[in-house]
Amino acid sequence: MGNENDKKWFEKKISRRDFLKKAGIAGAGVAIGASGASGILAKMINGTSGQLVGNEEISFYGEHQSGISTPVQKNVYFAVLDLRSLELEEIKQMFKDWTDYTEKLMSGELVAPELKNHLLPPIDTGETVGLNPYRLTVTFGISPAFLDKLKLDNKKLPEFKDLPHFPRDQIKDKYKGGDICIQACADDAQVAFHAVRNLVRKGRSLIDLKWTQSGFLPIGNGKETPRNLFGFKDGTENPKNENDFKNVVWYDKNNWLKNGTYLIVRRIQMHLETWDRTNLQEQENTFGRYKESGAPFGEKDEFATIDIEKKGSDGKPVIPIDSHVYLAKKAGTKICRRAFSYSNGIDEISGQFDAGLLFLCFQKDPEQFIKIQNSLGNEDKLNEYITHVGTGIFACFGGVKKGEYIGQKLFE
Ligand code: HEM
Repeated sequence: MGNENDKKWFEKKISRRDFLKKAGIAGAGVAIGASGASGILAKMINGTSGQLVGNEEISFYGEHQSGISTPVQKNVYFAVLDLRSLELEEIKQMFKDWTDYTEKLMSGELVAPELKNHLLPPIDTGETVGLNPYRLTVTFGISPAFLDKLKLDNKKLPEFKDLPHFPRDQIKDKYKGGDICIQACADDAQVAFHAVRNLVRKGRSLIDLKWTQSGFLPIGNGKETPRNLFGFKDGTENPKNENDFKNVVWYDKNNWLKNGTYLIVRRIQMHLETWDRTNLQEQENTFGRYKESGAPFGEKDEFATIDIEKKGSDGKPVIPIDSHVYLAKKAGTKICRRAFSYSNGIDEISGQFDAGLLFLCFQKDPEQFIKIQNSLGNEDKLNEYITHVGTGIFACFGGVKKGEYIGQKLFE
């Protein structure tokens, strides 16, 4: 540390939470259940569609991991990691260490007390001192390759396989595969980044970073569905209550994945310039929904039920048969979408914005996603404006009880 003031700052060894209590910031330290909101917040929120900015702390412990049915936060930092060590005991210990870290991170504390020895690097990297937990959630998943590499053959599940190639995929090797994923979401981008940074740092000798992506959503009021970079409300048709999550998301067979779920990530480039040259009618035809209200064609309310069989007075289907919504619905299954926009500077080849959607979705069986993506395949009008460049499938463990560690049932 450079000057005396800096030294004093660290010597105080105050946790982030103590700092907040001292500062008297409302909302700090109010723990909300891992799988969602409680009390007043629960009344304000419907499923994951309406996000809001909160100071609150979300509980690390629960039946399910947080960051899945939690009302969506403003920011995500998503990381895919490769295993460097293939020693099961070492990886198990890493998950134990991550459990300890994650509990602290989510409650707004430093990952470890500051060292007295000023000649050593601090353990916590420090950029969140003075910040609220900002509804930080950290969600862990492992890929089929993780099970292969650690020779956990008896833990394989028949549906847990790498995703197939889909029509029009242009997946880049650098955004494909990987062994572990960490999804950190928070209403503050620095809090989300800090979580992944410190977790990766703790496991540094055992893992390598493969790819990462940060993402954002607009500040919400808990009621409005956030808009994506094409200006459309995105997340309207999503699980809305516990029963929906039970039917669509939570894995319920009696094995190590019980109460967990499958996470699918797609890094989808959105060709903003092409879109911005497209007239409004075409834009709306692409989705089968009105841009301003988000309502399906022929309706006024965003949440109106859609009947894809419905015909207009001209005998034609009200929702265009090549629209995104028509084809997604036609697949006849559901998923829980929890996507974030991203913006990564300029595409080196086209000189245009390198921007898009970090598409994250959760489902109890990967087949749900596969069916929908196959239906969207070649026919989706949206394909003219997007390119899928990254992919991944991860099994996200069930939640953690006090005294347990993340992924324990897999390693036992
Ligand atoms: C950049 C890519 C994408 C964009 C911009 C996008 C945008 C949208 C929008 C605006 C809606 C309508 C509002 C809503 O219900 O949320 C929608 C619905 C939906 N999307 Fe996407 N989406 C994209 C990719 C995907 C992918 C890859 C999948 C899954 C394979 C998917 C699955 C769905 C589903 C299931 C619905 C709900 C359909 C319904 O039942 O009404 N989307 N999407």
